[in-house]
Amino acid sequence: MTPVTRRTALFGGLAALGVGALAACGDNTASTPGGASRPLQGPPLQATPQPGQKVVETTLTARESTVDLGGITARTWAYDDALPGKVIRANAGDFLRVALDNRLPADTSIHWHGIRLRNQADGVPGVTQDPIRPGGRFVYEFTAPDAGTHFFHPHVGAQLDRALYAPIIIDDPNEPGAYDAEWIVVLDDWTDGVGKNPDQILADFQAKTGPIKPGMDMGGMDHSSMPGMSSSRLGDAGDVVYPHYLINGRIPAAPTEFRAKPGQRIRLRIINAGSDTVFRVALGGHTLRVTHTDGHRVQDKQARALFVAMGERYDVTVTVGDGVFPLVAAAEGKNGQALAVLRTGSGAAPAPDVRPAELDGPVLLGATELAAADSARLPDREPDSTIKVALNGQMDPYAWGINGKKHGEDNPLTVGKGQRLRMQITNETMMLHPMHIHGHTWSLPGSAGLRKDTVLIKPMGSVEVDLDADNPGTWALHCHNIYHMEMGMMTTLKYT
Ligand code: C2O
Ligand code: CU
Repeated sequence: MTPVTRRTALFGGLAALGVGALAACGDNTASTPGGASRPLQGPPLQATPQPGQKVVETTLTARESTVDLGGITARTWAYDDALPGKVIRANAGDFLRVALDNRLPADTSIHWHGIRLRNQADGVPGVTQDPIRPGGRFVYEFTAPDAGTHFFHPHVGAQLDRALYAPIIIDDPNEPGAYDAEWIVVLDDWTDGVGKNPDQILADFQAKTGPIKPGMDMGGMDHSSMPGMSSSRLGDAGDVVYPHYLINGRIPAAPTEFRAKPGQRIRLRIINAGSDTVFRVALGGHTLRVTHTDGHRVQDKQARALFVAMGERYDVTVTVGDGVFPLVAAAEGKNGQALAVLRTGSGAAPAPDVRPAELDGPVLLGATELAAADSARLPDREPDSTIKVALNGQMDPYAWGINGKKHGEDNPLTVGKGQRLRMQITNETMMLHPMHIHGHTWSLPGSAGLRKDTVLIKPMGSVEVDLDADNPGTWALHCHNIYHMEMGMMTTLKYT
């Protein structure tokens, strides 16, 4: 039902577009094949296009709408009545001008998740802009410097848990494109209009909030508190029960179908737009070749299944067999799954509860099992400063924060322009948290320089992440569980 699901862009056609635009934008940091991204030379900060720069323009209208999940309809909030919203597509180095008309009964904004852009276009009310009022309009203008699979969503309340999300794909016109067709796969957990609405869920959490209890350094966790929904692999994995899980807006009983020819190489661009659900993803009968995460090249790695946390993206290539194959995204630690169908031959569609054997073997966890491709690696450099980022909180009372504080009571983290900053993130809770940084892409020294903007951190786990401070401003850093973020697990990184 959405144009996204049927998109079979043959690469030859895409590659022809916009080569001139990239070449004309000489001062950006767009990746080139084999060329490492240059540090300390952030994205172009101009508010207007440079001479010769290609401009990609579009308008979005956010409004109340009714969406069809596949025989079940839901009243919700959406971009131009679509679920997911229409994909935005540009080439690395293009200038984007996107107007948002807010016809919602609430303030809103758009955050361009994963794109290193100018601070004023980052879409975080209270940090980078004023909220867009009902009836108001805001025009986002920025250069998208890097190729990659990204998405966009509001940065207000629990609006991401409605239909307000869509892919934004930035193509590299110089990429060789070793695939025949492309399938954008957007995962989501769904309740709006069929179960509790996201504002009610958030209000219920707010009604049982309280102080953040002292962390593990104060003598142990509170094991009496109510646990979250638990996964044997990842620990407590979520707080919200969803009636449905979706791929490209469809429930498993009425899945979206992608058609290809046997033997073709298909590039899947997998995006988790869920608010409280990590998905375990596998394609029945196939091995996945993981080529990118969060838009950046990795050293190719084979996987039978992978974890995709909220806000994470993975690009994988598969060489498809002959037949009908289930693409399953199982809700980790929860009961339920999303389903889509890859069809290259005749045959019945798989049952809604089909469980490919691949789901129950090893499952790739990108942040610890992938390594950066040479072209994506930052130059080696010792950090100029190191800061600690402790994730705190618990289910009872329901409270989440960073370094012991809820956002609003927190002190911003600081960095000097030109520095390399190391963050030591430790998860002092019994719940997993996908941590997301705006305006930058981390490099993970423990994973051969893997580049990511969203990193899943297991309960009691820790990770070191480096960034080059090359994009001045004040930037959000938060958990991409949208309820954790709203309850306080967010802070900012401020250039001094
Ligand atoms: Cu996708 Cu600040 O988030
Ligand atoms: Cu969290």
